[in-house]
Parts: sequence; C-alpha cells; structure tokens
Amino acid sequence: MAAFAKSDVRQSLEAIRAQALAELAESSGLDQIESVRVRVLGRSGELTELIRSMRELPEHERPAVGQLANQVKREIEARIESLQHELRLRKLNESLAQTPLDVTLPGVRFFHGHTHPLTQVTERLLDIWAAMGFEVVATPDIEDDFHNFGALNFAPDHPARDMQDTFFLDGGLLLRTHTSNGQIRVMEQRRPPLAVVCPGACYRRDELSVRYSPMFSQIEGFAVDDFGKITMAHLKGALTEFLRAFFGPESEVRFRASFFPFTEPSAEADVRCIFCAGAGCRVCKQSGWIEILGSGMIHPNVLRAVGYDPERYAGFAFGMGVERLALIKLGVDDMRLFFENDLRFLGQF
Ligand code: PHE
Repeated sequence: MAAFAKSDVRQSLEAIRAQALAELAESSGLDQIESVRVRVLGRSGELTELIRSMRELPEHERPAVGQLANQVKREIEARIESLQHELRLRKLNESLAQTPLDVTLPGVRFFHGHTHPLTQVTERLLDIWAAMGFEVVATPDIEDDFHNFGALNFAPDHPARDMQDTFFLDGGLLLRTHTSNGQIRVMEQRRPPLAVVCPGACYRRDELSVRYSPMFSQIEGFAVDDFGKITMAHLKGALTEFLRAFFGPESEVRFRASFFPFTEPSAEADVRCIFCAGAGCRVCKQSGWIEILGSGMIHPNVLRAVGYDPERYAGFAFGMGVERLALIKLGVDDMRLFFENDLRFLGQF
C-alpha cells in the first residue's frame, strides 16, 4: 500500500470518530452500544484495522498520526463507558420504581452453629486451670486394669472393678471409669514438679437418667512437688480459687471428708443447689447441695506405683464431673438434655 498517505489516514480517523459518536448519540440500548463498540474497537474493528495499517506509513509521519488515532480511540471508549453507566443506572432506577424496596422487611436469618454447651463449659474449666499454671494433657479412654485401678490402689476385690460398674473390652482392656488414669499416665512418664489437668470421657454402666449417664466427662487435676511443698491447704486453696472463678465469688461451697482408694486424706466439694436454693429438690436428691468433685492428697501407694518415693514427693489430686458443673452453671435440671442433641435445647447456649 505505497500510496497510503498521512492525509488519508487523518481523514479516515475523523470519519470513524464522527460516525461512531453520531451512532452512539442515537443508540438507546446497551445492545446497540455494544454493537458499535465491536464494529469500531473490536479485534477486527474499523479503528483497530486502521491503526494496524499505520505501520505502512513512512516512519516520520507515524507519531503525529498515532497520537490522533489514540485520541480518537480514547474518546470513543470514554463515550461508550459513560453511556453504559447512564443506561445501567436508568435500568436500576426503573426496576426500583416498579418493585419498591421495603427496607423494613425482616432479613433472612441464617442458622449459626456453635460448640456444644458441654464443650463450652469444658473450655471454660480448662481456661481457669490453665490460668493457675496447670498444663492440659490428653490421656486414653481405653485403658488396662493397672492404669484405671491397680496403680490407683484399688484392692483386687474393690466393687468398682465389678462388671456392674465397668465396661470391659476384649484383651484385658476396659473403658476408663474416671480420668484418674491420667495421673498414672503422666506421672509414669515425667518427674515432679507437675501441675496437670486431664480432660476426657469416662464410662460406667449406669442408665441415662436425670443425674447419671453411661458416658460422661471429667477433668482430672493434680500437682506434685517435693514433700512439704504441697499440702492439703494448697489443695483446698486451689479448689476454692477455682470454684470462685467458675461459679462467682458469692457462691456457697463446702468441703466434706470422704474416701477414695487413691487419696489420703480425701475430701469432696459440694456447691449450694441452685435449683432449690438449698431447700431440697430432685436434682440435689433433697440434700440442698450438689456434689461436684472428689479430691485428696495422692496416696503413697499411688506414688510408689509410678516409681516416685513418697518420702520425697507429695501431691494433691482432684476429679470433677463436667456435666454436673455444666448443669449447675447453665441451670439445666436434667442430664439427658445434654445428650439428646435437640437443637431447641442446644440453641439456647
Ligand atoms: N476419680 C474420682 C471419681 O471419679 C474423683 C477423684 C479424682 C477423687 C482425684 C480424688 C482425686 O469420682
């Protein structure tokens, strides 16, 4: 295309511009605008082709013409954009005018899941112990007789070892009846000083009822240090601190002498029944108090079983029922509700 001249290109550019702008001015819909865009600016559009053909111009003429071409292109693009914007806005306004938007209508509610109330309570309990310097350690649900009973100083004929209480598995294994196996598991592997809490599921052959469940959760805790450094006073102090943190400083708590094979001396802690304020009801078995934990100084035989010298080390231990604590804390009066998984119940927490 040797005859291709600068003036021709200029004319063509002006012509394209004039025509495109005129067509755009008359177009009344997005489709029309789009077809102008494709015809002029598309991959083989008029302007695109013309710009491509400018390669044939003598080199010194190219800059001036190139500048004009770019200007035309930008002008058409800008015009298209503003027209599109205008049209879209008009469409939106029209549709809003046709179907009025009632901003007072209630929104769509999404159902949000959350952790189970027992999980929430467990986390809170562990947080309190962690803040007091106790480390959280997981220990197994499936145990052998030694870790669940023998090392914990249960006599061979202790009734808790009975088929009535324990779920036995094949191969001499069983489902732990309490988290006290955690004491043995941790102490076997480590040396004092120790301050540990072991949360977990426990199993006993109980019928599901208002107060009992065949599967429930406990949190075991224990602290061991040099003999003389840990006493019953530390146990009572730690538990009182814990109960105040969990139930509030005004809650009423009492300690009662008790018995466990693996602690000596032993004590149980009760809190004032919140359901009857102490008057007596089915939850507290008419006593006015709800038992929430067992505790005591770790028995010398337990220390011996894990290879600790009881002349050299001493420790305290406690075990608390998570469901029992949750029941009181959340004001739920029936253990079964925690396991039925009725969303109407769970949704309240
Ligand atoms: N293991 C005991 C129970 O299940 C609770 C307990 C733990 C008592 C630690 C004393 C010390 O009832």
